[in-house]
Amino acid sequence: MMIFTSLLLLLATSAHGQTVYDAAHNITAITGTWSSGSQNVVTGAGFATPSQEAFTYPKTTGMSYSFTDDGYYEIARYRMTSNGTVPTCITGVMNWSHGTYVLAANGSIVMTPFGDGYQQIQDPCAAISNFIENYNYTELYILWNIYQDPVKGYTLQLYQYDGTPLPPQYLISTSPNMLPTQALRNVSTTTTTTTTVQNAAVVNANAGERRWEAASVTGLLTVISGFGLVSLLL
Ligand SMILES: *[C@@H]1O[C@H](CO)[C@@H](O)[C@H](O)[C@H]1NC(C)=O
Ligand SMILES: *[C@@H]1O[C@H](CO)[C@@H](O)[C@H](O)[C@H]1NC(C)=O
Ligand SMILES: *[C@@H]1O[C@H](CO)[C@@H](O)[C@H](O)[C@H]1NC(C)=O
Repeated sequence: MMIFTSLLLLLATSAHGQTVYDAAHNITAITGTWSSGSQNVVTGAGFATPSQEAFTYPKTTGMSYSFTDDGYYEIARYRMTSNGTVPTCITGVMNWSHGTYVLAANGSIVMTPFGDGYQQIQDPCAAISNFIENYNYTELYILWNIYQDPVKGYTLQLYQYDGTPLPPQYLISTSPNMLPTQALRNVSTTTTTTTTVQNAAVVNANAGERRWEAASVTGLLTVISGFGLVSLLL
């Protein structure tokens, strides 16, 4: 617990030199649509078509989070991962989910999906090179803050359950661009693997590389130890 508290303090003081809990560091509401990098990944109908388990591929990788002011969220993510051992094997993952979120008093955000999320994995070097699977993970972000970037404007910084920061996301719309906030496809509960991202061992054992992996804060290069993965992501 002491280590964890220290981690929190470190994060709280390192992100932008000051605490992230007070109003001064959440300078606008989280409500709206946020997008990383070149902002080609955006939640809503332009990304996922759940009724067909389909995706529209954006021009570049990245991620987008949307939040309503009455407790709904949606996430759109597109990443490419190259296998460190076989650099020509680039795996692409498109990932979509939505559900309800809670801004907890301890500074974290808990996002609980409706259960209709899914992802598409394309790996030209794998035995099955293209498949779609359910994605139903509760996601815990232990810290978040919103600050003003001099160039990009309002910027949302989320920290994953293990303290890893996501790439900064910029506010592209104060009204959230989202699909309807209800389950949008039928999913058989018996075939869905569910767990929470808090239990990394279970996640890794169950899903191996399939779970959405953290991106680095710079978004350039992350070596995920134990998997020999090099993650390239904006
Ligand atoms: C990378 O490629 C090697 C050789 O094909 C394979 O054994 C290994 O499992 C791959 N790693 C990942 C994370 O896909
Ligand atoms: C903060 O609150 C959330 C929601 O209650 C909980 O899941 C999380 O474990 C808490 N984090 C800490 C560090 O206590
Ligand atoms: C999604 O996960 C939750 C929590 O584990 C579970 O209650 C729910 O049944 C799952 N939904 C589906 C469609 O599997």
